[in-house]
Amino acid sequence: MSIQLTRRDDFAVITLDRPAALNALNYATLQAIDEALDEVAAWKVRALLFTGCGDKAFCAGADISELLDRDIPDEYVGTRLGQSVFSRIESFPVPSVAAVNGYALGGGCELALACTFRVGTSSAKFGLPEVKLGLVPGYGGTQRLPRLVGVAAALDIVLTGRMVAADEALRIGLLHRIVHGDVIEAAMAYARGFTGHSMLAMRLIRDAVLRGVDTSLQDGLRIEADLSTISMNSEDGKEGPRAFIAKRAPRILDR
Ligand code: HXC
Repeated sequence: MSIQLTRRDDFAVITLDRPAALNALNYATLQAIDEALDEVAAWKVRALLFTGCGDKAFCAGADISELLDRDIPDEYVGTRLGQSVFSRIESFPVPSVAAVNGYALGGGCELALACTFRVGTSSAKFGLPEVKLGLVPGYGGTQRLPRLVGVAAALDIVLTGRMVAADEALRIGLLHRIVHGDVIEAAMAYARGFTGHSMLAMRLIRDAVLRGVDTSLQDGLRIEADLSTISMNSEDGKEGPRAFIAKRAPRILDR
């Protein structure tokens, strides 16, 4: 198998498992991630974590050897599979955390960009080196990177194809945290900072932010008003204020 899917506490963990190719995303791996998402959707977990097998790479990108192979399906060459799987991760019911150990290049960087959060060790290195192959990034990098770090920084990264080390990634907002020790343990510790919250509220907030950045302020405010109203009418949205007034912890109702 090109990935491992495991369950740890409240978390589903997808580990890219092709260390001999630095966990490059071949067609089978993208399909396996897609199938793993089907499985995880039926689990009661509170976050989805991604990492790479071995200590050298999170993921070195699309499998370059397959880019030469014209027998593989058009949906892979034409980037549609990668884009659709990564968009699925971005809007997945539970938040996702990329636990970045080493290289996150090309499609590997794009996988991390699609996650809600990115934590990484000091060995984390991001980059979109496709330009050096004469290619345009194809799994969302040209769109998600400028939304995260701004157009100027994104153009610098995409057009030079250079690597961004962990400290710079933290400074420009590509990494949320630099972590120490076992990257999955550290990612789970980071995720515990939000897994006690209402899953519904978090889902609505992510929806408001992601839809809002693609629209005008006025339209974004309308989206926020609609989603905020849904939260106020939800059981969690009634329980939270009740618990505050009663000076007790809220019971989380949406498990
Ligand atoms: C296939 C890869 C790979 C990749 C590494 N390998 N990256 N195989 N696809 N993306 C393989 C190498 O061929 C090698 O196999 C083994 O992994 C170890 O890699 P080395 O290069 O020997 O390691 P090192 O010298 O330490 O260099 C690490 C590296 C380098 C800097 C990460 O491997 C590298 O530059 N990789 C390519 C990164 C890249 O360009 N990614 C973007 C891909 S295009 P052997 O068998 O020789 O041991 C993309 C989108 C395409 O993502 C557009 C949409 C379809």
